Amino acid sequence: MQTYVKGSKITGTGHYAPERILTNADLEKMVDTSDEWIVSRTGIRERRIAAPEQACSDLAHNAARAALEDAGVKAEELEAIVVGTVTGDMQFPSTGCIVQSMLGATNAAAFDLNAACSGFVYSVSTVHAMIASGQMKKALVIGVDLLSKIVDWEDRTTCVLFGDAAGAVVLEACDRGEGILGTYTRSDGSLAELLYVKAGGSRRPVSAETVAEREHFLRMKGDGVFKYAVRAMEDAANRVLDSAGLTLNDVDLLIPHQANIRIIDAVAKRLELPKERVVVNIDRYGNTSSGTIPLALDEAIRAGRVNKGDVVLMVTFGGGLTWGSILLRHT
Ligand code: ACO
Repeated sequence: MQTYVKGSKITGTGHYAPERILTNADLEKMVDTSDEWIVSRTGIRERRIAAPEQACSDLAHNAARAALEDAGVKAEELEAIVVGTVTGDMQFPSTGCIVQSMLGATNAAAFDLNAACSGFVYSVSTVHAMIASGQMKKALVIGVDLLSKIVDWEDRTTCVLFGDAAGAVVLEACDRGEGILGTYTRSDGSLAELLYVKAGGSRRPVSAETVAEREHFLRMKGDGVFKYAVRAMEDAANRVLDSAGLTLNDVDLLIPHQANIRIIDAVAKRLELPKERVVVNIDRYGNTSSGTIPLALDEAIRAGRVNKGDVVLMVTFGGGLTWGSILLRHT
């Protein structure tokens, strides 16, 4: 039973993508691939790649500043900073704490949340509950990943897919029924080996052997992920709508996780949503993991695609496996 006393709404958004653009033509010179293969199988034309000296907190900090400015909120007003990421600056402290210091958010708790590509949706769901329970009034959620730092640049089956970016939102308390209308999160850890980094944790600490075996890089069984992603995202969409008593007819805009254009098209088709109501920017950014949804949301709002009162449905899917959704009435 829901015991929330408040609601939460998004009052500001921002994003940051690194300057360097890596095109499919560039990749043709690095691995045995082609622009034609990448575009037809994934929809990706180019992606942004962080500079060697840029870390997770640098991208997150830029996105956070933009979101705070958009919301008109000062860093000291924040009571929590939650960063959805699997590519934090280091094992610990959390990137949330590093961003807290960069922002001077002296009154905020800070932590990271690991749900792979679903990190942003999981983080919003968590912070929404923290605000709605009356625990706090203002918080910052950042979705950010630099998968370029953990991708094997000799593996053509994965290195063409990913890019780096951060997106952020400011969440503030509001009356129940406004802003975020519902969230849904689920997982299936039995499918962990579809998408994972084998070494670098306590199970298999980094050693000369793990490096020689290239086990510190991301590995993925793309076809298995693909099949599961479509069904899970469709289910997450329907469940969050049901919980809010709305239907797909009420949805003005779908923002799906940007992993592959064929996954996006398949989900939109199953949900019977026309292309005009689906946000796609995978052609310009590739899969930025936890960054995809807040980046796409910020771009859509700034482009005037989201108006006051519009219902926005965000659905995600990622390693874990994890998946989920957010239903938002934009204020
Ligand atoms: N360039 C050229 N050929 C390639 C490339 C490449 N970059 N990558 C793979 N191939 C080859 C394969 O080796 C294979 O060759 P073979 O038939 O001689 O063995 C052939 O292309 C077909 O490979 P498939 O893996 O069957 O290609 P598919 O059409 O399934 O597309 C892809 C692969 C793009 C990875 C797809 O399966 C996919 O998008 N899956 C979902 C992945 C995903 O969404 N991941 C992220 C979700 S979670 C998260 O966001 C972290």
